[in-house]
Amino acid sequence: ASKYRAFPAVQLQDRTWPDAQITQAPIWLSTDLRDGNQALIEPMDLARKLRMFDMLVKIGFKEIEVGFPASSQIEFDFVRQLIEEKRIPADVTIQVMTPARPELITRTVEALQGAPRAIVHIYNAVAPVWRKVVFGMSVPEVMDLVQSQVTHLKALTDAQPGTEWILQYSPETFSLAELDVSLQACETAIAAWGAGRDIILNLPTTVENTTPNVFADQIEWMVRQFKGRPEVVVSVHPHNDRGTGTASAEMALLAGAHRVEGCLFGNGERTGNLDIVNVALNMYVQGVSPGLDFSDIDAIRAEVEHCNQLPVPARHPYAGDLVYTSFSGSHQDAIKKAFAARNEGDVWEMPYLPIDPKDLGRSYEAVIRVNSQSGKGGISYLLEEEYGLTMPRRLQIEFSQVVQRAMDVTGTEFTAKDLWQIFEREYQLD
Ligand code: KIV
Ligand code: ZN
Repeated sequence: ASKYRAFPAVQLQDRTWPDAQITQAPIWLSTDLRDGNQALIEPMDLARKLRMFDMLVKIGFKEIEVGFPASSQIEFDFVRQLIEEKRIPADVTIQVMTPARPELITRTVEALQGAPRAIVHIYNAVAPVWRKVVFGMSVPEVMDLVQSQVTHLKALTDAQPGTEWILQYSPETFSLAELDVSLQACETAIAAWGAGRDIILNLPTTVENTTPNVFADQIEWMVRQFKGRPEVVVSVHPHNDRGTGTASAEMALLAGAHRVEGCLFGNGERTGNLDIVNVALNMYVQGVSPGLDFSDIDAIRAEVEHCNQLPVPARHPYAGDLVYTSFSGSHQDAIKKAFAARNEGDVWEMPYLPIDPKDLGRSYEAVIRVNSQSGKGGISYLLEEEYGLTMPRRLQIEFSQVVQRAMDVTGTEFTAKDLWQIFEREYQLD
């Protein structure tokens, strides 16, 4: 049982979506080592890649895109190292990406020799602007490309029966393409791979270009086309160009998608890939286990910051430095009252704190800070917590005015120690 309340959903009579709430975790795919890595100022070296991989395994990812092995020697070597050093746990499947080009597909399959199980991710552009401007291809030419490249992959992988092979096919910029063209490309990939074989159809918002409901409608339409075909997994791969990657993923799940690709803390090309931490913890606070362990979020964040050499912003919804910190006096007062009223085992009902920081290994210590925006609640809370000082209400009001005057002079935030020193000075305690 979860300590978080599942909020009642309004089920509209004419709603066509299967669910009004996310009720179970999707299959997660971390692409930190591929889409995330390709967007780094300084891509990860082997040591950092290994640290990232081990951490992703520890968090609980069962599918991990580990790179683009045909793109460079380091990418190739990393995949070889994972396989040869037997670093891939039995319940984890690695995925590698390749454009739909024969020499790159051949090199990709070479990198995977000896893997017990592998997802080969082939993508090509299907959206009009890429067809017309970038590649100068007609729709039938696009379909020929998909057919020939998946057939090429099939021949190579059939010759290595020791590995369990899964195809992932991505029609690039699905969200900008005509639905019938995307569907035709997906059906072409399925037919070339062999009807009835496991396949992941990964539908990206390569560049996020609509409100999330439009993307969700597109996903719902695709999901309907594959109804009754359990070998087809519908996956989404949102980016965050409009700042709505999380909402796109959540609405796509409501629309029936089975799988979500993204990166930790939203690293990735331009504005980033979908932030898996957000989607997973949003689920968690609605009482749905995400199947990923973020119980020591600070350690994960530190490791990701080291591997990516990029900071996680202070306002990141679950992991930022400031997200369990309340500056406003009225917020501090409300939190103080709710903590006092709370019993062990109660449902989490805390004003201004959507999640119990303890669940992520964060503490309450930093919840109350006192600065010029704070009121008496925060001041008395800190003195009581740190120095066991319980002030009667009139003294709280009087002392908060003393603190306010001191702050007007310094303009800085006050710690519990600062407050105690002011208190000692004001009331001449020894
Ligand atoms: O964003 C994208 O379209 C991609 C594809 C390769 C899936 O990263
Ligand atoms: Zn991408």
